[in-house]
Amino acid sequence: MTFFTACVPQSVRPPAGLGQRGRAGLELLGATQKYAASHLRPAARAAFEASQAGADLARAHAQAAAPAEMRRVVAETTSVVERDPVWRMERFLQRYVGEESFAQGIQAVEERRAMFAAFLAPPAQPTLGTLELDPGLVPPKYYSATEWHLEPGSWDGYDLYGAVFAFGLGPLVFKHGGYAAVGAGDDILQQRVDTIRQLPKATYGRIYEPGCGSATTLLTLHKAFPQAELIGCDLSPLLLRMGHKVAERQGIPIHLKQRDAVRCGEPDESVDAVVTYALHHELPPNENMALFQEMFRILKRGGDIVMSDPPPFRAVSPFHAAILDWDTKNRNEPFFSSACLSNWDDRLREAGFVDVQSYALGQDGYPWITRASKPA
Ligand SMILES: C[S@@+](CC[C@H](N)C(=O)[O-])C[C@H]1O[C@@H](n2cnc3c(N)ncnc32)[C@H](O)[C@@H]1O
Repeated sequence: MTFFTACVPQSVRPPAGLGQRGRAGLELLGATQKYAASHLRPAARAAFEASQAGADLARAHAQAAAPAEMRRVVAETTSVVERDPVWRMERFLQRYVGEESFAQGIQAVEERRAMFAAFLAPPAQPTLGTLELDPGLVPPKYYSATEWHLEPGSWDGYDLYGAVFAFGLGPLVFKHGGYAAVGAGDDILQQRVDTIRQLPKATYGRIYEPGCGSATTLLTLHKAFPQAELIGCDLSPLLLRMGHKVAERQGIPIHLKQRDAVRCGEPDESVDAVVTYALHHELPPNENMALFQEMFRILKRGGDIVMSDPPPFRAVSPFHAAILDWDTKNRNEPFFSSACLSNWDDRLREAGFVDVQSYALGQDGYPWITRASKPA
């Protein structure tokens, strides 16, 4: 899910951003996506919900207990909404923006390659935080076989993707929301702040984020818990380098490691809290279970976990479930639907967690929070 955007404050930006043509092209894509999600989508939703089929499927959705039954209801909903030209146009625009954003974003950054390459160059030594890369790490097959979110070459496919996201897609396209689980008008940086507020204690010693990408959530955590030691891991060296660079420029010490989160290598009972953001829908179900066991292992007794991910189908309307399900086949998100069919509450209990709770923070069930603790 394309939630990722690096929060690069004005003070640490390169001397100029994208050129005028590149900026205008991406602004048009952002406005197109916003229009699709805030005008076309509600019209398609109203037509579906006013129909007999919509009423029947709402009843079936409310009664669906087993994942197979829920899957059938969502597939039927899709076959009904696909007959509506307004739905088809909204989905066409989503896919168009998804592909075109990368094509135009890369072109815009290329026009100013020298400037962005200098901006992304490694920080001068010594640094406050650390960056541990592991060139020998072989990523899981499911990860390397996918061009996530239609991103050419995936997370590491273009050396200046950090600039594409931070100066193009983040501020000009994703800013308006209205894609994947993010509602139209939603602020994806505020959603991180809101997620972090779900940590139940006022202070933490060490906080760990598996799948931290370019450290956007860790940087947000620093604002809420300035005394905490922050550690993150990710499979993508490009994202980790970008996160390290941005954190160093802001004078924030963060420890970033290139690791598979499922075998993260942290010592037993060594962290006080775990936060995950937009990670679980990118893992197959068995890997998620292994991840919960791994996070249980590294948490100290009485430690907390807070997870934010797209909502389960059971928590949203059948129309919105069809919207989420669409990303699986159309935005290169192979595990999106299986995540939405999962019950993280039960999986966390199986891993040993207690006091499990799950609830929505915003519109259409997003961000969906699941939080729990390791027994004291
Ligand atoms: C949608 S991004 C979210 C990034 C970050 N959590 C944030 O808030 O911006 C998902 C991240 O999970 C990482 N990821 C996926 N599978 C992983 C795994 N098995 N181990 C570590 N990182 C993983 C991806 O490389 C990507 O950076």
